[in-house]
Amino acid sequence: MAAHGCARQGMMVWILALATFLSCAVAVAGTGRLEAKQRLEVQRHLRRLNKQAVKSIESPDGDIIDCVHLSLQPAFDHPFLKNHTIQMRPAFHPEGGLLFDEREVASKKRTPSIAQLWHQKGRCPENTIPIRRTKRDDVLRASSVKRYGRKKHRSIPNPMSVDPDLLNENGHQHAIAYVEGDTYYGAKASMNVWEPKIQQPNEFSLSQLWILGGSFGADLNSIEAGWQVSPDLYGDNNTRLFTYWTSDSYEATGCYNLLCSGFIQVNSEIAMGATIYPISKYGGSQYDISILVWKDPKEGHWWMQFGDGYVLGYWPSFLFSYLEDSATMIEWGGEVVNSEPDGEHTSTAMGSGHFPGEGFGKASYFRNVQIVDGSNNLRPPSEFGTFTEQSSCYDVQTGDGGRWGHYFYYGGPGRNSNCP
Ligand SMILES: *[C@@H]1O[C@H](CO)[C@@H](O)[C@H](O)[C@H]1NC(C)=O
Ligand SMILES: *[C@@H]1O[C@H](CO)[C@@H](O)[C@H](O)[C@H]1NC(C)=O
Repeated sequence: MAAHGCARQGMMVWILALATFLSCAVAVAGTGRLEAKQRLEVQRHLRRLNKQAVKSIESPDGDIIDCVHLSLQPAFDHPFLKNHTIQMRPAFHPEGGLLFDEREVASKKRTPSIAQLWHQKGRCPENTIPIRRTKRDDVLRASSVKRYGRKKHRSIPNPMSVDPDLLNENGHQHAIAYVEGDTYYGAKASMNVWEPKIQQPNEFSLSQLWILGGSFGADLNSIEAGWQVSPDLYGDNNTRLFTYWTSDSYEATGCYNLLCSGFIQVNSEIAMGATIYPISKYGGSQYDISILVWKDPKEGHWWMQFGDGYVLGYWPSFLFSYLEDSATMIEWGGEVVNSEPDGEHTSTAMGSGHFPGEGFGKASYFRNVQIVDGSNNLRPPSEFGTFTEQSSCYDVQTGDGGRWGHYFYYGGPGRNSNCP
């Protein structure tokens, strides 16, 4: 359109035409410069994120998994980590005591019940970590290069808030269980894995645990891990393992997975952001993953373990303020974005997309919910609360006893006759 207008104006008296030509040329060059600048910015960001690989594996879902040498991972771009000596294992493990036995972990590692899709196409060599390669399109889907890999809003469910309008302010909906009122040094749970339907690409559905420090103000510290479906972040509807961290309520610090400097990964088998496989079927086989996050009392770092045997790595304690000491609240459960398409509640599902009342095999659950207490013992919380903004859309129901310890069912379909 612009070029066409310029050509027509070029038909005028030649002095005028020359002036027009010049201004048009400047305008076109200006747009070109902007595009070139953006292209360059995207390219530079991709170079920062995608490190030189020893080996690359093409996953059946289209992901490229780069096996990157431990010392070249994104964490070490952080100025505070320039001289950091990487810790290959935690000094303390809440299940293994002070002398964490590596052999025990190694033997457990042989029989993982659930893993990642890309494993079908190969494994990463020792001393490397698998990193999901960021593609140009991944970055272009974000609102800006800066926002890529970061949460858009403050979205932590605050069960203490009495104002339900405030909770709905960003359209985030939750169904969670939580503990608060003590100091916590970690949390663990097993959750079954689903592929909830997402109505709009700008919405997501996730199930995770939150390790929280501080009040719900601008300096909130959070460590998060679980599974998510997020078309905006990954470009598809696959269920992926993810982590998140922030030390300022999602403002300037933190990101998903390894999309910024922070988390130090030591594990060569599990890729953050990669597709989890297999997943549960409604009325069929159930697959769950366990996640344990704990604070090493010796070094102060927050470690993460996936499944029974995969110690993934750690968030160095200097990343945080409150969490440098301890957590003040733990939450487990689901979250979806409700963008209210067409003025109705979204039909984006949480968990299995079915209400807790349907029970095992149909509803989504968290089982064996535990916390790490002040003595560094992993134990069931003495009691936990539940919270949901609109139980007619997504609900939560707790239970207790037997091999499942403390557990709860959660989730729902979103829009239905009781949730218009
Ligand atoms: C890293 O070590 C060098 C040399 O010992 C020192 O000059 C520098 O200040 C250290 N950097 C940090 C961030 O500790
Ligand atoms: C994701 O799911 C939505 C709705 O279920 C569908 O419209 C969309 O095409 C899917 N996206 C991809 C990339 O498969």
